[in-house]
Amino acid sequence: MGSKNTEDHLTPDKSDYGKNNARIFSTIDDDTRVIPAVEFRNVKFAYADQIVLNDISFRVMRGELLIVLSPSGGGKSTILKLALGLMKPDEGRILIDGEDITDYDEEALNRVRQRIGVGFQEGALFDSLSVYDNVAFRCHERGIPEEIVEQEVRRLLRFVDLEDAIDMMPAQLSGGMRVRVGIARALAGKPRTLLMDEPTGGLDPPTAWSVCELGIRLRDLRDVSAILVTHGIEYVRFIASTYAGYAPNGEVMLIGEKDRLCLINTKIIMLREGRIIFNGSDEELFISEDKNIREFLLL
Ligand SMILES: Nc1ncnc2c1ncn2[C@@H]1O[C@H](COP(=O)(O)OP(=O)(O)OP(=O)(O)O)[C@@H](O)[C@H]1O
Ligand SMILES: [Mg+2]
Repeated sequence: MGSKNTEDHLTPDKSDYGKNNARIFSTIDDDTRVIPAVEFRNVKFAYADQIVLNDISFRVMRGELLIVLSPSGGGKSTILKLALGLMKPDEGRILIDGEDITDYDEEALNRVRQRIGVGFQEGALFDSLSVYDNVAFRCHERGIPEEIVEQEVRRLLRFVDLEDAIDMMPAQLSGGMRVRVGIARALAGKPRTLLMDEPTGGLDPPTAWSVCELGIRLRDLRDVSAILVTHGIEYVRFIASTYAGYAPNGEVMLIGEKDRLCLINTKIIMLREGRIIFNGSDEELFISEDKNIREFLLL
């Protein structure tokens, strides 16, 4: 993100600095921390007779990032659609913030979806709405006053370097621009949980890296929970081994893990033929002897 002005969104007010420790200690006693933000319990899902997910179980805790890997067609996007309640599992349960949403109707699901920011593959923008209205969509749903909405939309578009495109229609955007608008839309309204499908897909490397940095800051400084689907192993390595913290002057710093491995808030699962073949940390993944995992990682 470097020079881009995202600080108002991502970093606390300077006056927050110093209260930071109090924030950390208060969260230790917080009951909501023991309740997963997203939980799948023995989920099975098939399209007609093609089983896509078979007995899938995982948990994403508050402030935790789960990276989902699989070959193309492995069921990654399906997991995100199920977590949002866009489709129902054939078996098993899905819980969001401890609420079992499996049998929820649309109205109840919409209430839960308010807390979740979603970035679908290739942006998945509303084609009939301008860039402004796409990013503002969630704020409009909530009836937030327009001058506040406009500030929020401009701030998010500035982050993804697209403020100039504010009045454009999706059909006028390149693939990479659409992805960036999709990211801005996912972050509108400061969701507690993010579901991101290939957020770096179609982006030039500098923008893709800045998206990774954003994910790290949201995870470590904002306590956001996220499921991230990606193919980019280099991004997985970076996200799973870099953490965000505050310098003594209150500025945000990104710090790489060195010999001492300390990052415990990032997990990786890998899917193959409907099942989880790996669930663990990046260091366990990269030393795995499993043939399928090594093949996927091109080791
Ligand atoms: N609407 C649908 N109807 C029938 N089959 C579908 C549908 N959507 C997905 N599938 C099938 O389900 C499987 C899993 O799809 P999914 O989109 O979850 O994979 P993915 O891991 O996200 O793939 P990719 O990496 O290419 O995005 C694939 O075999 C796909 O062909
Ligand atoms: Mg997909």
